[in-house]
Amino acid sequence: MQGLSREAVRRVYRFYAPVYDFVFGLLLDSGRAALARAIDPAAQRVLEVGVGTGLALKRYPAQAQVVGVDLSEEMLLRALPRARRLRGARAVDLVCADAEHLPFPDASFDAITLPYVLSVTPNPQALLRELRRVCRPGGQILILNHFKGAGIWQGLERMLSGAAARVGFNSCLSLESLQSERWTLLELRTVNLLNLSKLAVIKNDAH
Ligand SMILES: C[S@@+](CC[C@H](N)C(=O)[O-])C[C@H]1O[C@@H](n2cnc3c(N)ncnc32)[C@H](O)[C@@H]1O
Repeated sequence: MQGLSREAVRRVYRFYAPVYDFVFGLLLDSGRAALARAIDPAAQRVLEVGVGTGLALKRYPAQAQVVGVDLSEEMLLRALPRARRLRGARAVDLVCADAEHLPFPDASFDAITLPYVLSVTPNPQALLRELRRVCRPGGQILILNHFKGAGIWQGLERMLSGAAARVGFNSCLSLESLQSERWTLLELRTVNLLNLSKLAVIKNDAH
């Protein structure tokens, strides 16, 4: 996102961390549930990018090994007790890292999820390139996000468009601007209250 640095993301989520679950927990939860339902139930290795406070962790397939990465230590500190509670039910590792430069070899994951991350990250294109690298060919990339032009939200999108760096949210991101020749869009549908967000299910083609 133009003007939003990694440090700005960390600063924004240092501020949001104590209230994040209260403000964005229930409000965005039906989207998280739809995303989890769309994951290939046979996926063994799942990466959640921008895991935040870990609100989606309990929804992943029971047999999956889940890795959650996030830039913000304050958000991850809140995910930790959730991850611990899940141990036994599923393996969860949390890693503090920038998802544009992931510490994983090529093709490490069967499915990668990005719940509500693309509009709040400095460089969505670079992020997606890195995710295609660590996703195995034929694996899934599942994007949950608010994309521009979403019905009744257009007025608000315009109002926020000049303030992206200050509020830490790019209201004008379009899915078309992120398209890649190296993936196939399998499904796109609206989710959440008043069609606030879209869920895109993508197949990662050959690297
Ligand atoms: C809106 S929160 C979403 C949290 C969670 N996925 C959820 O469903 O509520 C966005 C998260 O993405 C993280 N983030 C943004 N850019 C990132 C990047 N390049 N690498 C890792 N995490 C990033 C932020 O620190 C923040 O915790």
